[in-house]
Amino acid sequence: MQVVDEKKWQQWVVLGTGGTIAGTATNPSDLTAYTAAQLGVEVLLDAVPGLQETLQGDRLVCEQVAQLDSKDMDHATWQLLAQRCVHWLAQPDVGGIVITHGTDTLEETAWFLQSVLDTRKPVVLTCAMRPATAPMPDGPGNLRDALTVVRHPEACGVLVVCAGGIHRARDVQKVHPSRLDAFSSGEAGPCGRVEHSQVLWAATQALTPVHPHARKALAASVADWPWVEVVYSHAGADARKIHLLVTAGVRGLVVAGTGNGTIHQSLLTALLEARRQGVAVRLTTRCADGQIVGQTAAWQTTAPGLNPFKARIALMLDLMA
Ligand code: SIN
Repeated sequence: MQVVDEKKWQQWVVLGTGGTIAGTATNPSDLTAYTAAQLGVEVLLDAVPGLQETLQGDRLVCEQVAQLDSKDMDHATWQLLAQRCVHWLAQPDVGGIVITHGTDTLEETAWFLQSVLDTRKPVVLTCAMRPATAPMPDGPGNLRDALTVVRHPEACGVLVVCAGGIHRARDVQKVHPSRLDAFSSGEAGPCGRVEHSQVLWAATQALTPVHPHARKALAASVADWPWVEVVYSHAGADARKIHLLVTAGVRGLVVAGTGNGTIHQSLLTALLEARRQGVAVRLTTRCADGQIVGQTAAWQTTAPGLNPFKARIALMLDLMA
């Protein structure tokens, strides 16, 4: 793997997008009743312990790209964020980017950026499970860890840093609604850890190839992005949801199948009909871990290991041809 000389970079960029890390509460000890996305990214950086030690003389540039609760993340914000990443990554003295983000859709943003950014410089997303006004907020430590990771000479691609874990965009998933260590990389495991401000890699860092339609995603009006939905197969599944989506003009369906990608009998005919009408159908599994093995004949599966929401992004990009 190509090792980059850390010394040549002088600037690191922090992009703010909102989330609980920027959240505030009227009653600081209430860790659930708060409003996400209230504080600017400069305020978040001011709260980072030992920031100057972490930066070791390098400069930070920050920019507020969005200010939202990530449950409301949308394609326009993704495109703007990717465009700002492209801008900053093209600056010769910028070594990498840290993005502060809500936890709820963080894995989707990470996978979108991984799919469209053609760079070996690292982009590190970080977050918090407690608002900034909490008596012991986790955001400042996570942000410091993210800055430590982005400055590491072996860091590359899109990574997620939370509660000491370093995760790849492909593997990471939010698995818990409240604990501080809310993310898991499933069977792949985290690709590293930050301990006492040291980065300990568990695996060699490798780049994921950029999607062939990345440029279209960066330039095309988001109104023209293909409409792709996730449909779950479950007990009592009703084919009317497929009919309604097809009638409304959906271009792609990602089916989150049961187990090893099986689909409820009641959905099968509707899905075959959707495909006959030109809707792209991809199969994935609703299981939290693992991937579909050995099912290739009837339905096209998604790239191995993508959860249904990342598979939706992959299919949307595929359909931008
Ligand atoms: C959000 O995703 O913006 C709110 C929840 C969080 O950051 O934990």
